[in-house]
Amino acid sequence: MKRYKDDFPILQTTVNGHPLVYLDSAATAQKPNPVIDAVAAYYRETNANPHRGNYDLSVRATEAYEQSREVIRKFIGAEKSEEIIFTRNTTESFNLLAYSYGMNFIGKGDEIVISILEHHSNLIPWQQVAKAKGATLKYLYINNEGEIPDEEIENKITEKTKLVSITHVSNVLGSISPVEKIVKKAHSVGAVVALDCAQSIPHFEIDVKKLGVDFAAFSGHKMLAPMGIGVLYGREELLDKMPPFFTGGDMIEYVYEQDFTAAPLPQKFEAGTQNVGGAVGIAAAAHYIEKIGYENIIKTETELTKYALEKLSTVPYITIYGKKNSVGRCGVISFNIKDAHPHDVASIVDAGGVAIRSGHHCAQPLLRYLGLNATCRASFYFYNTFEDVDILVENLKSVRKWLGYGA
Ligand code: ALA
Repeated sequence: MKRYKDDFPILQTTVNGHPLVYLDSAATAQKPNPVIDAVAAYYRETNANPHRGNYDLSVRATEAYEQSREVIRKFIGAEKSEEIIFTRNTTESFNLLAYSYGMNFIGKGDEIVISILEHHSNLIPWQQVAKAKGATLKYLYINNEGEIPDEEIENKITEKTKLVSITHVSNVLGSISPVEKIVKKAHSVGAVVALDCAQSIPHFEIDVKKLGVDFAAFSGHKMLAPMGIGVLYGREELLDKMPPFFTGGDMIEYVYEQDFTAAPLPQKFEAGTQNVGGAVGIAAAAHYIEKIGYENIIKTETELTKYALEKLSTVPYITIYGKKNSVGRCGVISFNIKDAHPHDVASIVDAGGVAIRSGHHCAQPLLRYLGLNATCRASFYFYNTFEDVDILVENLKSVRKWLGYGA
């Protein structure tokens, strides 16, 4: 297996006296040197407020920002750069969508369809819309593998559905949603589709045109870029008819004492000084991913997930949730150790340098549906190695002893 770790300085460090084994990439990915260098170079050489100054530095900052937008447009196969709105993260992208599209184009008696797999960021904004507009929020439920069955799509998306907003990959179970079927059914009843790509774009290619989605949201920080930069993609025709979400500087055309007119896309949705360093970072991250190649990312992660599932399955007191094989899923594995609270497990393995997440993973309705309060979660990225998996499993094997149980 190729060693990608060497590009990531933080993965050369130690934690609690042990080499860091970072298995929380579903929460945030670590950053490779080319991304860190691009952001540092921007702040060293180009930083100024974009879209505002006529002086050289401001013009160059504007160019850096707009070139980054173009990189992201190409990266996700969007038609026009006006369709790429920079936000802070996926959560902000969904709030923009809910408040600007949902509050204005969804009404009493309409239905919004999401799935039980959703992260709170693609769930609470739709609860808000449903409550405010008298609409109904409906859920697609999952089978034992953590996947959305065809019948759910067929039965729940109806003539009343105005919007379907679905996670592409579950941040708890790693299962992949059947986007093609969902888009086909939603469009056949005239509903628009929003896709939460936060957990998919780090791992496989997203082409919004091929997928046929109307909106897509993702965060930079899960795809190797800095925190604080995210994207909302929307079809121009839809974004054009949506009112601004945030108002203030830079999103205006004319401002009068009592009113204003909005700037054209994409500025209409980008109020206030924007995160140019973040935009430069997400563009550098996209280039880096292209250099590594999604085919290599998928290959590495599939091997790691297979190995991890096999090793974890050999430990009798570990229960794995969702799919037990590595086919058609991402490298997110939720599990519990018999009689051990996930927070205790995470703290104990942390003493051995292993970083995993524990808790409800910002998906409380899913955990409740699975009959759980919390799980441990190990999530892999292409920079992980078989050795990381071995160290994880060795540390997990010590947990019950630490807590005073027998084997
Ligand atoms: N959404 C992130 C996670 O799943 C924070 O951990």
